[in-house]
Parts: sequence; structure tokens; C-alpha cells
Amino acid sequence: MKPRQSPHLLVCFLMSTAVALATELMPRLTFRKGDSSRIVFSFQRKGVQNYDTFLLSKDGATLYVGARDTIIALDLGSADSIRLKGEIPWSPTPVKKDECVFKKKSNETECFNFIRVLVQLNETHLYTCGTYAFSPTCTYIDLENFTLVTDANGEPLLLEGKGLCPFDPQHQNTAIVVDGELYTGTRNNFQGNEAIITRTLGRRTVLKTDTWLHGDATFVASFNIPTPSDDDKVYFFFGETAKEFDFFEKLIVSRVARVCKNDVGGDKVLQKKWTTFLKAQLSCTQPGQFPYTVIQHVFALPQPGGGAVFYGVFASQWQSGNLGSTAVCAFSLDGIKKAFDGKYKELNKDCSRWMTYNGPVMDPRPGRCSVGPSSDKALTFMKDHYLMDEKIEPAHHQPLLVKHSVKYTRITVHQTRNAFGVPYNVLFLGTDKGALHKAVAVGKEAHIIEEIQLFEKPEVVQNLLLSPEKGILYVGYSTGVLQVPLANCSIYTTCANCVLARDPYCAWDGRECRDIRGATENVSDLVQNIETGKPDPVCQRNHGKGRALPRSRNDSDGSLLKILAAPLNTMVRLPCLRASALANYSWNYPERKMADGLVMEDDQALVVIVQKDTLGIYECRANENGYWQTVARYHVRLVDGFRVDREGLTAPMGEHRSYWGQFVTVTVLLSMTLAVVAAVAFFTYHDKLKAKSKVQGCSSFPEASKTSGPEKVPLNGSQSPPPSSEYQVPGPCQEGANSSKACCVQVGGPCQDIDADNNRLDPGLANGDDSRGALAVEGI
Ligand SMILES: *[C@@H]1O[C@H](CO)[C@@H](O)[C@H](O)[C@H]1NC(C)=O
Ligand SMILES: *[C@@H]1O[C@H](CO)[C@@H](O)[C@H](O)[C@H]1NC(C)=O
Ligand SMILES: *[C@@H]1O[C@H](CO)[C@@H](O)[C@H](O)[C@H]1NC(C)=O
Repeated sequence: MKPRQSPHLLVCFLMSTAVALATELMPRLTFRKGDSSRIVFSFQRKGVQNYDTFLLSKDGATLYVGARDTIIALDLGSADSIRLKGEIPWSPTPVKKDECVFKKKSNETECFNFIRVLVQLNETHLYTCGTYAFSPTCTYIDLENFTLVTDANGEPLLLEGKGLCPFDPQHQNTAIVVDGELYTGTRNNFQGNEAIITRTLGRRTVLKTDTWLHGDATFVASFNIPTPSDDDKVYFFFGETAKEFDFFEKLIVSRVARVCKNDVGGDKVLQKKWTTFLKAQLSCTQPGQFPYTVIQHVFALPQPGGGAVFYGVFASQWQSGNLGSTAVCAFSLDGIKKAFDGKYKELNKDCSRWMTYNGPVMDPRPGRCSVGPSSDKALTFMKDHYLMDEKIEPAHHQPLLVKHSVKYTRITVHQTRNAFGVPYNVLFLGTDKGALHKAVAVGKEAHIIEEIQLFEKPEVVQNLLLSPEKGILYVGYSTGVLQVPLANCSIYTTCANCVLARDPYCAWDGRECRDIRGATENVSDLVQNIETGKPDPVCQRNHGKGRALPRSRNDSDGSLLKILAAPLNTMVRLPCLRASALANYSWNYPERKMADGLVMEDDQALVVIVQKDTLGIYECRANENGYWQTVARYHVRLVDGFRVDREGLTAPMGEHRSYWGQFVTVTVLLSMTLAVVAAVAFFTYHDKLKAKSKVQGCSSFPEASKTSGPEKVPLNGSQSPPPSSEYQVPGPCQEGANSSKACCVQVGGPCQDIDADNNRLDPGLANGDDSRGALAVEGI
């Protein structure tokens, strides 16, 4: 953890509470691991670990998984289980393992064959590469019998994998097959400090990058977006240290690079090198916050009219503590093209600074997918002009989603149609702590429908793969594959809850909340509102069909009512289940005011001391999105005698014996004692004071100033120091019930967290669990 207050501290800021509240999204519902409402099936195989690399077969019936020392084929035939169809053990040879250990790598964690490339080469063969004990190796898989292709001696055919697969399992890489050729982005050496983008296999020249990538480039994804014309391109997404900025601290940026499919390399200049390589910076920022510069993953969603939208998850380089925050930004292919069609940057060799290039541009223009040879002069120009000047801005110039205290590691997006045929994009996001968030994009923003906790112990979600046909999301992690259904609409038992969920997969059909994927019948009766999620008046209009109260309950008024009978002067606890994180909960009492005998607990439960005037009906009401509903209702009554109530809902006080008599006696005795003590004290003091004023007169101030040294004593006698100039008291702190954090800021000085009462918080504590606090940056 970085120290909070560093000597380099230049900027120190805090978003205003208003901004933080407006942008902080909460998953509406959260399901713990093993919740029966969100059943998750799991596949595990003894001895197999690191289910890192996924490949779905063209027909969607088989999932190939690259794990550690193993490649497995899983049959996805049945919806509620995963079956092992084939398994290929593929470990490094003992010689390779020994070499790996000799090179000081761990034989417990590193000297294995981590499968990192698994692609479909043609109808009959897969191509795969693994780290192979720090000696990247590739081979073919024959799909007919699911085995490794062998050489003439019957031994597995082992091919050089350098430049296609990393040496170190810690390093990320990407690979894609386009027309039988393999495009890869990876680290190219044992030390892992050289990055490369190559094209291999196929019949054409092997192509590589020149010195166009920083050695620490970390590849997260690659795509081929087919276009009708023949200027087909392949896109690579990665993060790397930027050289073009003059900061004294290392600055990581997110990039997209592209190469042309028809590139054949140069003749004399750029021989066996790309002649169409260009890269540009991706920007994902939100005003008032640190930029989200570190790309984690990207998903390309093809668009109906051609092209694609790229959804990326980005973390921030500047995080204090380990909580972090991430943002999702969407980039259109047109936005990316615009940057690549714009100006170049050029390294000015005299001052070694990167500047905008304003000179004449060669023809053919670098990055254009031209056919035919280019002049040496043009190629020399291309060699130096590979970085674009313009940053690529996300759609709507803002993140679609920003989540504090959560780090997303993976994203996949499903385009679905709602009840009325309107397309909606559903985002599935995996976190580094093993949670899955499902969100729907609505205009410029996103709404997180639910969170599912996937594992017993927190761990990274390694891979997400969505099968739209099956309606299943596959999750790869350290010891298996999980199968998560995209939705369970039957968790919403009322029309209102079905609409409030804003789940595009679910709609109210008058009787139940139904999964509408693939629904063919008349949809005009379905109730759904993804845009606003407001049940009024849609559920009212369908009154009689879509009631607001659970359908399983026959009497809509009496259904929720629980009768609590308790003896006088005992405590009863009235729970109110917090179903939605987006709702505000409140209680209606018999007296319609907070009586002295009522205590609200943190979880909305109400504690009532049973007395004459606290008897009656209690209602817990939820207000979400402007819609009120009663979620719990109790009738608190007196019981005859000392019977324990049937509900067992009384507070843990033992039996309901009344201590009222004793309480009254003790209270009266105590009051009398206190009164006597006070009277004695007063008369004693009074006498002393009289004696003192006779001797000294009546000034006691000079004495006080003597004891407190040269400083002036505040006239109001307060012991508190004057307001420190180190921090300023903010304007009106508008604090919501769920935000106890501060809204105060000071630029230049040390960051101070100030709570709602303007008390400084201990920095260590303040850093604890809320990333909306102040942040410190070094360097920028
Ligand atoms: C969906 O939720 C209902 C109600 O909680 C539950 O009974 C059912 O088992 C769930 N189904 C799945 C597939 O999770
Ligand atoms: C790995 O190292 C441990 C301890 O150094 C040793 O017992 C074990 O045999 C080694 N395993 C292999 C596969 O070399
Ligand atoms: C697929 O590729 C493999 C390996 O290059 C080759 O042996 C095989 O003949 C190819 N199959 C087809 C149908 O092209």
C-alpha cells in the first residue's frame, strides 16, 4: 500500500459528495454463494487447475478449456450440467522442467505448461500454445479423436512458441485466427520485457512489430471486424507505459493498435515487419476523478449494420489502498477509425519529445491497407509514424459505468431484445474478488441488476464466455468452470418488483415474472420498463392481472400480517428484510411518530418496547424509484399471562418476565439519592465561593491565562483549538443516509477526510473501506 501522504504529493482532491452519490452504482440485488435463487453449476476435475483459456466450438456444443498441463473438451449439451468429453494431458518434458527450475523459477507454481493460446485453425484442427515451463511451445490438436498431432516417431509434435505465447504465466497475451493465419500479441522473451505483435501460420511471410511497443505492453484482447471492403483489419487492445508524455513518473496508457490483413511486409525497409501498424490512445475518464488508464479487458459487440462497439474495463493507476475502482467505457469502431485517420505524432529527435506531426503525409498513407509495393521513402516514413495524435474518446464522452471499491477483470456483453423488440445490451462483469455483476446499459448510463458471489473465498474471475443460444455464462477460475444462467425471473414475485428489476430478460405477463427470451406469442400484454424501471402506472394499469403483492398470497391485505403477542414492558424486534439496495425503508407506527419506545436498528429492524401506547399495526415500507410498497406488516398485541410468542421474534432477553416494578423502585431510589448528593454539593461549593471572593475579589480570568501560557484564552472558554488552516470546513455537507463520508477538499496540503460532523478522520481508518475518500497522487 502506498503511503497516503507522500512527499511528491501534488494533487489532492475529492469529488464532491453529490458527484460521488450520483455515480456510485449499487447492485440492486446481491446473491451469496449457494443462494437457491441463483443456482450456479460447477465443473471441477481433480488435479486440473487454472481454467484460463476458453474456446467455444462453432456449433456452440463444446467448450474447449486450456488449463495447467491439460486441455479439456466439455460437452455443453445439457442445460444443467457440464460433462467431460475429452482430455489431453500436456505437461512439459522433465528436461524442460529441470531447466526451468535451474533458471530459478518455481517448480510449485511456474514450471508448468499454462495453456494460453487455444484457437480453431480449420474444421479439423485446433492450434494451441502453452508456457511449457518458461519455454513457449505450440502444437496442433486433431479434433476427430481429440489428441495432440504427433510427429513421425509418434511423439507429440512440438513447435517453437516464442512470440506467440508468453514465457511467464503471469503475463497476459492475446491470439486470434483470421483466414487460417494466427495473429498474436505477447511478451517475446524470458525476461518478459519485450512485447511483440506477430502473424504466423498460413503461407505468407511471418510479420512482426518493429520498435513500436513498449516492453511492458500487456495484451488483453484482439478482434477482426469484417468489413465489406477488402481493407480488413485486426485490432489489438493493450496497456503500456507511455513515452509521449513528459511526466517524471511512469504513466500507463490504454491503447488500440491495428494492422491490415493484407499486409505482406516491406521489401528492403521494414522487411518481415508490419507496414500498416498504427496505435492510438484510448481515453476513459470522468470529470473530477483520476483517469481510468489501465485497460483490463475488452469485449467487441458486433453491430447489426456492420462494425462493432468495444466495451472495455479500465482501472486507475492511482489507487490508495487495495480497494480501487473501475470504469466501463464503450468505443465505437467509427471513433477508433477517426483517430487512425487523423494526425500522427512524431518524435522530435532534437529535444526527444513527442509532438504532433504537421508536415506532408506520404502516399500511400501509413496505416492504409493498400495493395502493391510502397517506396522505401514511404516505408521509412511509416516506420516513424505509428502513434496517432488524437485520443479516442468513449461514446457520450463518459464512462458507461463507474464502480468504486470494485475491480472488474473481465467483461462480456449480450445484446438482447426486450418485450417490445427494442435491443438492450446486458453487461456481465467479473471482479478480482469473485463477484459477477449483471448490468443493463440505458442511454449513457448503466443499472446494475444483480450481483452474484461466485466463490466461497474471494478470487479472480479469469474468464467469461457467453453462449447466447444456451442462455448461459461460463466462468473460468482457478479450480473449475461455473455455469451461470443469465437470469432467474421467478425471483420477482410481483409486477412491481419485476418492473423495478429492469432486467431485459424478464417481463410481467399478468400472472408471473417470466423469462421472455425466445417468446413468440403476443407480447403486447407484457409489462416491462427498462428505461426508467417505474412500476407506476404500468402495474396499476394491469390491475387485477399484475398485482403489486405476491401472487402466492391469497389475501393481498392480510397476507403479510404477522401477529406478535408479547407481555407488557418487553421488547419485540420487527425485522424488515432489505431486498433491494436501491430502496429506502421506513416504518409506519400506530402513533404516526417516533415514540420513545421505538428503536431503529441498522438493518431497518424496529425494536418496540411493548406498552399501552405502542400497541398496534407496524408497517415496513420500501420506496424505490418513486414506488411505495409494504414489505412487512406486524400487529403488536398484549399477551395474556407470560406466554412466549409463537413467532419467536422477541429480542433475546430470556423469558418475558416483567421487571417494571423493580425498575420503578430502583429509579425512584436513584433519583432521591442523586438529589441529596446534588444539594450537599451545591451548599459546599456555595460556601467556598463566598470565602474565595472575600479574599481575591471576583476575577478568576488572569489566573486562567497564566496557566495556559502566552496564548489567548478563547473568550467563550472553549478548550478546542482555533480552526486549523490545514483543512477547511466545507460548505453544506449534504449527507445521505448511506454516505457518512466527507465532502471537503484541500489542494496542496495533506488529504484530510472529514466526516459529516466535520471531524477529521484518522487517515488509517478513513482509508479503510470507502474509496470515495480523498486520494493522493504522486507525479502528476
Ligand atoms: C429461481 O428462483 C426461484 C425462487 O427463488 C427458485 O425456486 C429456483 O430454484 C431458481 N431457479 C434457478 C435456476 O436458479
Ligand atoms: C519441486 O521441489 C520440491 C522441493 O524443492 C521437490 O520435493 C519436488 O520433487 C520438486 N518437484 C519437481 C517436479 O521437480
Ligand atoms: C487443418 O490444418 C491442419 C494443420 O495445418 C492440416 O493438417 C489439415 O489438413 C487442415 N484441414 C483442413 C480441412 O484444411
